[in-house]
Amino acid sequence: MQNQSLTIKKEKILTGDRATGQLHLGHFVGSLQQRTALQHQYEQTILVADLQGLTDNGHNPHKVSSNILNVVADYLAVGIDPQKTTICLQSAIPALSELTMYYSNLVSVARLQRNPTVKNEIAGKSFGSSIPTGFLTYPISQAADITAFKATLIPVGDDQLPMIEQTNEIVRKLNYIAQDDILVECRPLLSKVSRLPSSDGKSKMSKSMGNCILLDSSERDISKAVKSMYTDPSHLRVEDPGKVEGNVVFTYLDAFHPDAAYVHELKARYQQGGLGDGTTKKILEECLQEILKPIRERRKTFISDKSQLIEILRSGSQKSQEESNQVLNSVKNAFGLNFFQL
Ligand code: TRP
Repeated sequence: MQNQSLTIKKEKILTGDRATGQLHLGHFVGSLQQRTALQHQYEQTILVADLQGLTDNGHNPHKVSSNILNVVADYLAVGIDPQKTTICLQSAIPALSELTMYYSNLVSVARLQRNPTVKNEIAGKSFGSSIPTGFLTYPISQAADITAFKATLIPVGDDQLPMIEQTNEIVRKLNYIAQDDILVECRPLLSKVSRLPSSDGKSKMSKSMGNCILLDSSERDISKAVKSMYTDPSHLRVEDPGKVEGNVVFTYLDAFHPDAAYVHELKARYQQGGLGDGTTKKILEECLQEILKPIRERRKTFISDKSQLIEILRSGSQKSQEESNQVLNSVKNAFGLNFFQL
């Protein structure tokens, strides 16, 4: 393994999650499944983004600190293997904060305000005129995350595309200053399912709104969530033709059912009339129970051994410190500020 990685230089992947809650089915289908597969072909680092989580939780830091190990347990439960994937903690890697400081001199406030994702998020929160500086500038910190690992491939949902664009702008500016390609540009790797709707079909999935299925949801909670899913309100009797678009049960079947041809057939029957919501929900529930049972059981084992989780995070962070310090060094050099080499 060691020798192989010396000869075949694998492309580098970096992803991350804000540590503000347990991970749910949306994460699973949007990114976790993909990461589990990618770890076999690429060199992958996953960042538990606690600092980014703080950007809108500065006054409620417990929401972040109490979820760090939850997120690590979620990773392990879905099959992310710490032997193959480096799992690290953003706040334990000082170079990430330092790089953010250097990069922030290359990005205007207007540019940050124009970032569509940040703009949307600000509109959806109740900051009023008190937008935390850290929140407005988190795309810079995310650029630090990505460049610190020389990552070229970023598996993300489409809401993260503006972050990739901003990262590449910073890379180009810095390379121009350095007159050398010290940083590398990255590209997104979009997942098949970008955003899974919440069970009410209206909003984003959120644990606090009780409209999502967590990776450790109990059998009963899964059943309850599926039974309450939004379908087609005008599909009143089994024999009525029903609508598939916007019907959350079918969106989930598309995302999770292993047999696409069967789902296709179900959709046709539903549209024709003669297939009841009770039946489609039963099929979905069975499928979700089957996927989540082993994950829930594995997660239970991992979360009960906190010291193992901490050790995984500690050794991943240490390895990441070494990698990111090299990039920090070259960035400091580019600014002529490396008086005492790290
Ligand atoms: N912004 C990402 C999210 O909200 C989390 C994240 C932090 C990230 N740093 C990253 C994603 C670097 C990709 C690469 O989920």
